[in-house]
Amino acid sequence: MENSKRKRETFSSGIAVFFATLGSAVGLGNIWKFPYLTGANGGGAFVFTYLVCILLVGMPVMISEFYIGRKTRKNAVGAFKELKAKPFWKSIGFMGVISSFLIMFFYSSVAGWVYSYVFKTLKGDFAALASQSMEQAAATVNQQFDAAVGGPVSPFVWQVIVMAVVSIIIIAGVRKGIERITKTLLPLLFVLIIICGIRALTLEGAVPGLKFLFQPDFSKLSPSVILSALGLAFFKLSLGMGTMITYSSYFTEEDNLFVTSAKVAISDTIVSLLAGIAIFPVVFTFGMEPGAGTGLLFKTIPLVFSKIPFGNLLLTAFFFLTSIAATTAMLSLLEVPVAYFIEEKEMSRNKAVLLTSGIILLIGILTVHPESIFGNVVIAGKGFFDLFDFISSNILMPIGGLLISIFVGYIANREDTENELSNHGTLNNRGMIKTYLNILRYVTPALLIIVFLNCIGIIKL
Ligand code: PHE
Repeated sequence: MENSKRKRETFSSGIAVFFATLGSAVGLGNIWKFPYLTGANGGGAFVFTYLVCILLVGMPVMISEFYIGRKTRKNAVGAFKELKAKPFWKSIGFMGVISSFLIMFFYSSVAGWVYSYVFKTLKGDFAALASQSMEQAAATVNQQFDAAVGGPVSPFVWQVIVMAVVSIIIIAGVRKGIERITKTLLPLLFVLIIICGIRALTLEGAVPGLKFLFQPDFSKLSPSVILSALGLAFFKLSLGMGTMITYSSYFTEEDNLFVTSAKVAISDTIVSLLAGIAIFPVVFTFGMEPGAGTGLLFKTIPLVFSKIPFGNLLLTAFFFLTSIAATTAMLSLLEVPVAYFIEEKEMSRNKAVLLTSGIILLIGILTVHPESIFGNVVIAGKGFFDLFDFISSNILMPIGGLLISIFVGYIANREDTENELSNHGTLNNRGMIKTYLNILRYVTPALLIIVFLNCIGIIKL
């Protein structure tokens, strides 16, 4: 697809805008990261903080990114040039390019685990669970996870397969294809997670599971727990790094940016909560550790389906749909550096995709398994996997979000902003714009700064 043509292209309809944006937001973040971070950070209080972050930080930043993207119809770096911003603001775009690389280094690795689980379930690796006792079943899922991620070779091969699939789709530039995939398969994933949730609620650990998820114990909050919840809000809604600027550059002129952001944030949050409802009852039924870490999803979902009719089929479908969600999220991640290389460095699309995927595989190998050859390397108390995650979600994306809120709240032309957000006066939403701008100017940056200062110990909450 010609680059110049691509810039002028828009999604075909409001529904397509919604599903494509949701396709970026919904991914491993909901199904893998939300439950494992909730488990590791003590449950309800973390979830509560996360929801507050979505409402007061995530949504205002998302609307701001939509405004920047649709107004300029440019990539994350080009958009700030177009708005005649001082060169400093382009750093948001550069940080976005770095963040998307850092995220892809570990995201591709986890996506590889998911792909490998589709294959494992097809091979019937979990068939034995149906007749095993609880202890045996818990041991089996542990062994299977260790086998899947163990050894440096097999997980890396899966990571290469993931990158090959993502690169082929991105090179083909099949925007229509992506629209169609997200429109049909995301609702299916939604239905399957609901089935998982209902099944999990019939387990004997349902009540403690739900309590863990929804009953806040605020004594569990600490500066680092709050920072994790904030980082997760950015990661979840693909914010602070240019993805939503890039995507909204393809939005239609009629799209109501407030409504789209609310619909995306609410649907995305529902998927995360449903994943939690499917997973924590299992944790408490089978006596597992809620803080089991990155393997939590892979050790619990096979147990949800283990003793029900068509369980194995549903299990395959679950991991298949999760792999689709991970793939569509990765397309939006990759689009940030790819659009940057094409538009700012004048590379061809093929070259940009190959270069990006090559860098991801070269460095991503460091994350394939915590116990692989690189597993013992510890920098600032973290292995590569956690380090890449921490720097992107907890540092770069919130800083990106802070800069975006300051830019739109204080620097950008107020009239322009109001004009764009009201679709050139065709929407009657003055009150909404005012509320949004007030939150964006005063609440969002203040919260971000407080969380940062709290974390580095300058103030104490
Ligand atoms: N939001 C995606 C998820 O939850 C991850 C992502 C982050 C995608 C940043 C794009 C940009 O899985």
